[in-house]
Amino acid sequence: MTDTLTILDTLDAEFQRLQERGTRSAPGMLKLVDELRSEIADLRQQGQELASLYEVAQDLAAKSELSDLLESIIDKAIVLVGAERGFVALVGPDGGYYTATARRFGAHDVQETDEAFSSSLVNRVMERREPILTTNIQDDGRFELTQSIIVQRIRSVLAVPLIARGELQGAIYVDTRMSIRPFSEADLRLLQAMASQAAMAIRSARLYDDVRASNAQLNQMVSELRETQAQLVQAERLAAVGRLATSVAHELRNPLMVMRTAVYFLDRVVSEGNVGESGEILKRYFTMIDREIDRQTKIINDLLFFSRNRPRQLADVDLNAILDETLMRVTMPESVEVRRELDAALPTIRADADQLQQVFVNLVTNAVQAMPEGGVLAITSYRDGGDAVALVSDTGVGIPEEDMERLFQPFFTTKDKGIGLGLAVTRSLVEGHRGTISAASQPGHGTTFTVRLPVELVG
Ligand SMILES: Nc1ncnc2c1ncn2[C@@H]1O[C@H](COP(=O)(O)OP(=O)(O)OP(=O)(O)O)[C@@H](O)[C@H]1O
Ligand SMILES: [Mg+2]
Repeated sequence: MTDTLTILDTLDAEFQRLQERGTRSAPGMLKLVDELRSEIADLRQQGQELASLYEVAQDLAAKSELSDLLESIIDKAIVLVGAERGFVALVGPDGGYYTATARRFGAHDVQETDEAFSSSLVNRVMERREPILTTNIQDDGRFELTQSIIVQRIRSVLAVPLIARGELQGAIYVDTRMSIRPFSEADLRLLQAMASQAAMAIRSARLYDDVRASNAQLNQMVSELRETQAQLVQAERLAAVGRLATSVAHELRNPLMVMRTAVYFLDRVVSEGNVGESGEILKRYFTMIDREIDRQTKIINDLLFFSRNRPRQLADVDLNAILDETLMRVTMPESVEVRRELDAALPTIRADADQLQQVFVNLVTNAVQAMPEGGVLAITSYRDGGDAVALVSDTGVGIPEEDMERLFQPFFTTKDKGIGLGLAVTRSLVEGHRGTISAASQPGHGTTFTVRLPVELVG
């Protein structure tokens, strides 16, 4: 294009010379050259406009977030037509429109009457789906002048509808004041061309938003479904355990009682010294048998919990006494040091003593099992507001982070001889008392279980 202009300049000079020499055809030609020159200037202008439109289109296509997109649209529109201020209005889901999006008004510019004016204008553009261009609004009979338009010295206004595939998306509004040049038909064309790109981009962004929203909803539904399914499977397993437990537990209970009594009497015989040197060996074996009986009894109690839902039998219960009783019931290896820190001022609580016993036998058993090399078992109680709190703390192996979530699930166990019912039962029992149980652990250092029980159990 520059080349063409240079050629034209040369031609121009040539004609000037010809004219000076008095050649007659020169004036007509000169006029022709002038026309050509202005054509070329127009073309160049259009070329630039196309280039900036292309740039805008590229930029808009890259934005999938609606809010980013709107910001970008209004920025580009302002630069494209040399406006001072503007905003993008969108058609809302209810058919009305909202303008809160992407506005570029200087803070001092915004006035309510001002807004009312631009809003009514944008309404009109959207209703008629036709653009509005006014070069001098102060003289334009179509609009009612508000005080603010006069004070603000708004001169030229441009508003175009945003339409994509026949669907109205919204409108772009821009204006200028006296000090700046008014908009022209060319500006209107340019903004309209941009608006059609922008409308398509807005439509895509909105569709994308919709898809994303329904996708999130779907994911949510799928995970809820999974959860429900898992619960169903778990419930079915528990029901099966319950059916099995009833028959097995009763079969086992009696022989265990017989064994316990037998051990007790044999132990007395040994203590009376009638067996000579074998006494020590016998005692060791009795201890072993006793521990095994403990274990079986605990399993039976846990299993029975699932087979019959015995109603709670509430009484005024001394939690400290239950904790002490627990320490006596669970066989304690010598390598484990027990620390009792029980709050003597703890009030009695309304609870089912047998059930609480089972809770703490399970927790203490776990704690002892977590310290195969020995360690410290700390049992603590205190009052906290309306709750009685008991802590069972060990310095054992700890619980890996990834197991924490599954701890209370039935059948979760990491032990060769465990069935994984202990904590599941424990939690049910605590929650049955409207209490809470939680675990905190440092792998390699130890674990603390915290049981909170309301002092006054209502209902
Ligand atoms: N104090 C603790 N320290 C470390 N790990 C623990 C502790 N308490 C529980 N756990 C972990 O939680 C799992 C589940 O405990 P839970 O008492 O429910 O079952 P279990 O002890 O394995 O078997 P069960 O109690 O039925 O004989 C255990 O296998 C163990 O991995
Ligand atoms: Mg256990």
